[in-house]
Amino acid sequence: MHNERKIGNELFYVGGNDRRIALFENVYPVPDGVTYNSYIIKDEKTALLDTVDSAIADRFLENVSSVLNGKKLDYIIVNHMEPDHAATLTRVIEKYPEATVVGNTKTLAFIKQFFDIDIDEHFFTVKEGDELSLGKHILTFVMAPLVHWPEVMVTYDKTDKVLFSADAFGTFGTLSGNLFSDEYEFGAKEKAEARRYYTNIVGKYGAQVSALLTKASKLDIDMICPLHGPVWRNNISEIVDLYKKWAAYEPEEKGVLIVYGSIYGNTENAAEIIAGKLADSGVKKIAVYDASKTDASYIVAEAFKYSHIIIACATYNNEPFTKVETLITELKEHNLSKRTVALVENGTWGPQANKKIAEVFSAMKDMTILESKVTVKSSLKQEQLAQIDALVAEVKASL
Ligand SMILES: Cc1cc2nc3c(=O)[nH]c(=O)nc-3n(C[C@H](O)[C@H](O)[C@H](O)COP(=O)(O)O)c2cc1C
Ligand SMILES: [Fe+2]
Ligand SMILES: [Fe+2]
Repeated sequence: MHNERKIGNELFYVGGNDRRIALFENVYPVPDGVTYNSYIIKDEKTALLDTVDSAIADRFLENVSSVLNGKKLDYIIVNHMEPDHAATLTRVIEKYPEATVVGNTKTLAFIKQFFDIDIDEHFFTVKEGDELSLGKHILTFVMAPLVHWPEVMVTYDKTDKVLFSADAFGTFGTLSGNLFSDEYEFGAKEKAEARRYYTNIVGKYGAQVSALLTKASKLDIDMICPLHGPVWRNNISEIVDLYKKWAAYEPEEKGVLIVYGSIYGNTENAAEIIAGKLADSGVKKIAVYDASKTDASYIVAEAFKYSHIIIACATYNNEPFTKVETLITELKEHNLSKRTVALVENGTWGPQANKKIAEVFSAMKDMTILESKVTVKSSLKQEQLAQIDALVAEVKASL
């Protein structure tokens, strides 16, 4: 049974929720699921904007058919070829063989890589600034390379001032009936999930996201229709302002993220003591995570949020404890920059964590590694508290 939603003039939502998915991209835990959004503009000509993941294929096809209600599908606009949006593309093409698929040259190449279909005859190639008239609605195409994948573009409906933004401005989490951001609670939890989506999915491409934000700032936008999460309306600036900050790698909060990697608990103890001393010195924004317990995607998001990062890490086979090592690699791969870092290591016979972690952080852009480093030999001793105090004082002074 179809469940499409009318969300604007001649504009329909035909996507849906996936609450069963455990890991998005088979990596990121999504305890609240995810949406795969897809839209139809039903003008003189009809256009479907992106398709959905195979998980909700049947519902989606019912929605499309219900919206079209016998009218032919003229265009399938592919803003992004990643399978969470394009896995059902061939099913739509099979059902509506007369439709023209619209994308750029890279889109075409990716369609041919993913699918064994003869598409050339049915493909219309667009480039930056090209227009497509549906009758009343005039669509323009804006290239957004690497705002997740190289072929990504966004589509702007000039007539109704709607931006179909692909993965940009998306978030993890499902929707509960209400589709619009102004009917959706964008509280701390939702903001954290939007941040976790941004940082892990597109965080690496800050420069490209900034380029898209600059292009978008020249458009008059009343509504943003992303491929995940709510449709942004009325409070668009909330998400756009966050994106500006995230894309520039500017922290949201002057505060301290403490991450520890500990086998037996002694490094954990040092981390807890540091957190307590920071709090006693008047720091309010402190977040402590055990890298073994909390999935890296949450910690990556927190690293984008806070200005300061303290890593407390045991040595493991001459390297930083594996979970921390992985996390540090992820921070580097997501191009995190502009952070102040303090380091605490532990080791029983040959502590190595500080040196190795400092190497990684110093190869990242605009990172400051604080002077006061602490080395714990198995367990923290009374006479080391002065070193801990010095580290806390240096962090506090640099906040
Ligand atoms: C598999 C394994 C490998 C380790 N490798 C090293 C090492 O290369 N150098 C070192 O100094 N300590 C090494 N350690 C010891 C721990 O780093 C050390 O006991 C540390 O104090 C543990 O801190 P924790 O209490 O926070 O777990 C290793 C421990 C384990 C279990
Ligand atoms: Fe994507
Ligand atoms: Fe996506």
